[in-house]
Amino acid sequence: MRMVDLIEKKRDGQALTNEEVCFVIDGYTKGNIPDYQMSAFTMAVYFNGMTKQERADFTMAMVNSGDTIDLSEIEGIKVDKHSTGGVGDTTTLVLAPLVASVGVPVAKMSGRGLGHTGGTIDKLESVSGFHVEISNKEFIQLVNQNKVAVIGQSGNLTPADKKLYALRDVTATVNSIPLIASSIMSKKIAAGADAIVLDVKTGAGAFMKNLEDAKDLASTMVDIGKNVGRNTMAIISDMSQPLGFAIGNALEVKEAIDTLKGNGPADLEELCLTLGSQMVVLAKKATTLEDARKLLQDAISNGSALQSFKTFLSSQGGDASVIDDPSRLPQAKYQIELIAEEEGFISEIEADSIGTAAMLLGAGRATKESTIDLAVGLVLRKKIGDKVAKGESLVTIHSNFENVEEVKKRLLSSMKIISSEVKAPKLIIENII
Ligand code: URA
Ligand code: CA
Repeated sequence: MRMVDLIEKKRDGQALTNEEVCFVIDGYTKGNIPDYQMSAFTMAVYFNGMTKQERADFTMAMVNSGDTIDLSEIEGIKVDKHSTGGVGDTTTLVLAPLVASVGVPVAKMSGRGLGHTGGTIDKLESVSGFHVEISNKEFIQLVNQNKVAVIGQSGNLTPADKKLYALRDVTATVNSIPLIASSIMSKKIAAGADAIVLDVKTGAGAFMKNLEDAKDLASTMVDIGKNVGRNTMAIISDMSQPLGFAIGNALEVKEAIDTLKGNGPADLEELCLTLGSQMVVLAKKATTLEDARKLLQDAISNGSALQSFKTFLSSQGGDASVIDDPSRLPQAKYQIELIAEEEGFISEIEADSIGTAAMLLGAGRATKESTIDLAVGLVLRKKIGDKVAKGESLVTIHSNFENVEEVKKRLLSSMKIISSEVKAPKLIIENII
């Protein structure tokens, strides 16, 4: 087989066989196919797409390019959740202990964040002593014992995707739905998920800015999952404004604690109950979404979800006393209010720009090598649709430096206030099954 013939085939809009797809992925991973040929290939995919079968084959070839995690020693159906980016997305911190508390095993492999704010591991590390450097054996033991554990990403998970993503990044081929879908799904499958709940964001802060693209990405991923024997569903949710109020690592841990206590922001709680109910049903711990939601609501009101978070944190070395006393989390030196200069209604809180403001404070990484400040970030005082009076606070800025003029300027330009009433955007837009 020759790579040039396969490039030509894709260039001319034909579908590759499984054998041909495996030849491409295997050859590229091993270095037998050079970047210039792979670049031409990804550009051909960008323009001509892939059939359903090709997408499934491409995904599984990437899964098989490296290590896969064997979770068969964990009892029950392992359901993973994936959100496609977002700003201040605190759902994983809430969902992991929440669904675990009703008996769904959560064996989560997570990464660190790049850009906007930290990843799940960064956030959890704002709890003093918490660590994810545990052996696979300990990981499995903890999930069987507590129903929830988080481990750092294995170095050799989907190496084909790692290499291909870096290439796509510099050849203008990131934004191809079959390539994004296979990239995301390969990582979830390699990490051992039996079933997958996807939260595909749409709006200003999301990867998919418009609804049509978000739907297309969601149904492509659902098809791939089903095609390779993983029960998969997706929810399309709004990311035109940040989720919840908090953006920043320790601030989001506090927000997750509040939500598990039943005092969280309404949108964060609603998204967690929606995604959580789907996870509970896929794990066969309830037969209907209504029953699943009731189980989760009870776990919040009777304290078992919060207890599950405590056990999870302390089992991995974390100081669980932060749950009863969140002031033990890292605190920024300054809390500065951003004051509204006019009255009216909030019509826009541009999520990606807010994410960048949090990054300027040090809450996110500009490059892989940057260190992050776990204490800093933003707490929104208003959301889209809220009424605001002149002189009221729009945002509390948590900073470790005093001069935050640059951050204020960015925040003011990303929040619009108009004189007429504004309706809050719909959070849960559609289910894709
Ligand atoms: N996230 C991924 O993991 N892969 C993509 O291709 C795009 C976003
Ligand atoms: Ca949040």
